[in-house]
Amino acid sequence: MRKKIVAGNWKMNKNLQEGIELVKEIKALCDADKPNCGVIVCTPFIHLASVTPLVNQDIIGIGAENCADKESGAYTGEVSASMVASTGARYCILGHSERRAYYHETAEILKEKVQLALANNLIPIFCIGEVKEERLANQQNQVVKAQLEGSLFNLSAEDFGKIILAYEPVWAIGTGLTATPEQAEDIHAFIRSLVADKYGKQVADDCTILYGGSCKPSNAKELFAKPDVDGGLIGGASLKAADFKGIIDAWK
Ligand code: PGA
Repeated sequence: MRKKIVAGNWKMNKNLQEGIELVKEIKALCDADKPNCGVIVCTPFIHLASVTPLVNQDIIGIGAENCADKESGAYTGEVSASMVASTGARYCILGHSERRAYYHETAEILKEKVQLALANNLIPIFCIGEVKEERLANQQNQVVKAQLEGSLFNLSAEDFGKIILAYEPVWAIGTGLTATPEQAEDIHAFIRSLVADKYGKQVADDCTILYGGSCKPSNAKELFAKPDVDGGLIGGASLKAADFKGIIDAWK
């Protein structure tokens, strides 16, 4: 079944104490006024083990923002999918444009990460999206197609069915420039058609496709109103409990 989801991506923000506080605030707001959608909070690795016991993950799921492309061993500084899972976290963002751009994560590396996440029962939130030059050249469809083919379309239908997709136009991330609801719908529908071509209509219908990029309480409702936009992946606005809850409430 396709799920409506609002997921936060804290990026490299909040120390441990601040992170614990923020999760408690989000939980209090969701306890007071039940969300009408799935809620996921993705935090830096170091927060995971401290915040998973604070929430009922059937209501507020916890996820990492990355995991290693290797199972275990001499990879100083890396954190494996199995370590993430051992904290109780259920999700893992993979393929975020910041990881692709600043840490040179290729389609091939991301393919490994997706497989390791799935093998450890983590649900990948897999990000795709074009940069500004590609949008200006009207190449966004080719770009997302190559990203899906390069890292996900090797999966079985069963495994693909576990993935949450996030379309995040890089020109909209952290810039205040949001894709219009029409732009988002066009490409989300295109992404769903690619999934249908590869895995069939049922898998495509069931696939959750989030929009990310300067999504905030003031624009979430019109974005989520589009038939192929199943929620949001939220950066900046997920760092304040009230703003994050404002976006969650866009589903009401
Ligand atoms: P933003 O980030 O909401 O701050 O634009 C979204 C993301 O990068 O996931």
